[in-house]
Amino acid sequence: MNPDITILYDTIRWEEKALLEAGIKNNINIQMVDCKKVAVDLEKKPEDYGIVIQRCVSYYRNLHSTAALEGLGVKVINCLNTGIFAGNKLFTHMLLKKSGVPTPNATVAFSKEAALEALDKQGYPRVIKPTVGSWGRLISKLNDRDSAEGIIESRENMYPIYQIHYLEEFVKRPPRDIRAIMVGDKIVAAIYRTSGNGNWKTNMALGGIAQECKVTPEMEEMCIKAKNAVQGDIVGVDLMESDDKGLVVHEVNNTTEYKNTVRVCGVDIPSLMLNYALGFRK
Ligand SMILES: Nc1ncnc2c1ncn2[C@@H]1O[C@H](COP(=O)(O)OP(=O)(O)O)[C@@H](O)[C@H]1O
Ligand SMILES: [Mg+2]
Repeated sequence: MNPDITILYDTIRWEEKALLEAGIKNNINIQMVDCKKVAVDLEKKPEDYGIVIQRCVSYYRNLHSTAALEGLGVKVINCLNTGIFAGNKLFTHMLLKKSGVPTPNATVAFSKEAALEALDKQGYPRVIKPTVGSWGRLISKLNDRDSAEGIIESRENMYPIYQIHYLEEFVKRPPRDIRAIMVGDKIVAAIYRTSGNGNWKTNMALGGIAQECKVTPEMEEMCIKAKNAVQGDIVGVDLMESDDKGLVVHEVNNTTEYKNTVRVCGVDIPSLMLNYALGFRK
C-alpha cells in the first residue's frame, strides 16, 4: 500500500518520532524515509511517496532532496522556494520587508573592510549572523570595534557563505523571544523562550526555557504574512518584542522543531501537521 505521507529525515529527533506516532494514532499511513539511503532517479516520477513532509536537518540535503522530489511532481512540505527563502536570513529579510512585516534593521557587507566601515557608521552593539544557519550557531553580538574585527576576520577564513557579513541592529527587548508554530494560516501554539543562563540568545538548543505564550490577533496576522512571504505551509516564526517597534519577526524556520512547544502548550502539533498535509492529497 502506498503511504499517505512520507517523513523524509536524516536524523530521528523527538519531532520525527512524534509524527510517526501521530500517524498510528490517526490511522494515517506513514512511511519513514532516511534521506541518506535515497537515490532519486531524476528521469521518472516516483509513485511511492504520497505527500512528503521534509524534516532533514542538513541544509543542503533538505534543499536538494526537496528540489528533486518537487521537480518530479511530488508535493513536499515545505516547498523548494520556502527552503531557499526561509533557509537564508538575508532572503527572508528582503521578503518580510516587501510584505510589510516589521523585522530588525539590517545591513549586508561583502568584505571585512566594508563590514567594519558600516559598523563604524552605525555604531555598536550590532549582531552578526551567518545568512544560513540555526540553533544560534556563529551568531555573535559585536560590542565594539575590537571584537568586530576579530570575529569578522575569523570568518574571512571560513566557507564562502560566512564571508557574507549580515549585520542586524541589536533589538532592545525583554530577555526572551517568541516561537510561533504555524500550520497553514493558524498559529497552533506559541512559546516564550527565555535564556536560562544569561545568554542573550534564547534558542532552546542553547539552554532556553519555554513558557506558553498567548496568541494575539496582531501576532497571528503578522505570522501569516511572514509565512506567506516565504511561501511556507508549516513553519516556525521567531519574533521579538522590541521596546520601540513592538513585535518584529527575525526568522522563519522551514523545518521547525516543536518538541518544547508541544510539552509546554499541550497541543498535538504532529497530528495537526499530518492532517494539514493530507489536505494536499489529490
Ligand atoms: N537582532 C537581534 N537582537 C537581539 N537578539 C537577537 C537578534 N537576532 C537574534 N537574536 C537572539 O538570537 C537568537 C537566534 O537568532 P535567530 O536569528 O533566530 O537565529 P537561529 O537561526 O540561529 O535561531 C534569537 O532567538 C534571539 O534570542
Ligand atoms: Mg531562531
